[in-house]
Amino acid sequence: MNLTFLGLGVMGYPMAGHLAKHHDVTVYNRTASKAEAWVAEHGGAMASTPEQAAQGADIVFACVGNDDDLRGVTTGAGGAFHGMKDGALFVDHTTVSAAVTRELYDAARAKGLNFVDAPISGGQAGAENGQLSIMCGGDQDAYARAEPVMNIYAKLCRRIGESGAGQTTKMCNQIAIAGLVQGLSEALHFAQKAGLDGEAVVEVISQGAAGSWQMQNRYKTMLADHYDHGFAVDWMRKDLGIVLENANAIGASLPVTALVDQFYKDVQKMGGGRWDTSSLLKRLRD
Ligand SMILES: NC(=O)c1ccc[n+]([C@@H]2O[C@H](COP(=O)([O-])OP(=O)(O)OC[C@H]3O[C@@H](n4cnc5c(N)ncnc54)[C@H](OP(=O)(O)O)[C@@H]3O)[C@@H](O)[C@H]2O)c1
Repeated sequence: MNLTFLGLGVMGYPMAGHLAKHHDVTVYNRTASKAEAWVAEHGGAMASTPEQAAQGADIVFACVGNDDDLRGVTTGAGGAFHGMKDGALFVDHTTVSAAVTRELYDAARAKGLNFVDAPISGGQAGAENGQLSIMCGGDQDAYARAEPVMNIYAKLCRRIGESGAGQTTKMCNQIAIAGLVQGLSEALHFAQKAGLDGEAVVEVISQGAAGSWQMQNRYKTMLADHYDHGFAVDWMRKDLGIVLENANAIGASLPVTALVDQFYKDVQKMGGGRWDTSSLLKRLRD
């Protein structure tokens, strides 16, 4: 297949790399140096606009930042929708609102294209190891075309429902993570204040009922006060903003999520917008 990947960030760069082992891949990245580095590492081709990158592709994948970034690389000037061939499929891995997803689904259908929302979970390590969890929304036949290709970098890939259902599922994911990371941070903070060996504490409690992905994958860097990696606090605030707006609209009560969102605002004020979300511990320490 001819594939295109737009957005070679923390997640997109390794995801596109997995695809290149099986298919012909053309990449686009706003900062061209990242696309040059990717082509030097994986082969394939690079283009200077999403529109050019999308020409002739069977499937165009994207993993950019937020709603406006996604609009820019799809329907904006030089966007992929202007270059895609009839019947081609756009798969969006960005975490965005369900509203922009439905807007772009309609725009794609009007142009004879298909659109699947496919936000991801599993972090930088999940992208690098090809072990992502992918939650999808869109037409069943479009999803069926995307699934075998996404499985190249997925541990589990599932269609939850119609367009927007993938993004709404990702909101559930972020709600579940927010309180959990704060709890983990408080546990490590408490262990340190109590004079315990943090490593030894986690070695034991991670094997019991308190164990989690966040604990397994983040405790070492948290104890080392190292946050220059992973999932940026700025992106988490973008996600929680989407979540809280939706919660308001549907009448869901999310008190802990709203509180943790404010804690992340504190981390941004500390200069930690690009720090990993586990930096909630730093907020307690400093
Ligand atoms: N990191 C994680 O653990 C993780 C996990 C799950 C989901 N996500 C979601 O996945 C998405 C990407 O995350 P990431 O960590 O890979 O972010 P990142 O490292 O900041 O990369 C963002 C990518 O989007 C591109 N981009 C941003 N705005 C753009 C625009 N207006 N036009 C064109 N390209 C644009 C960036 O290009 P430049 O190189 O030019 O800046 C970069 O390639 C986000 O929606 C995030 O919420 C991330």
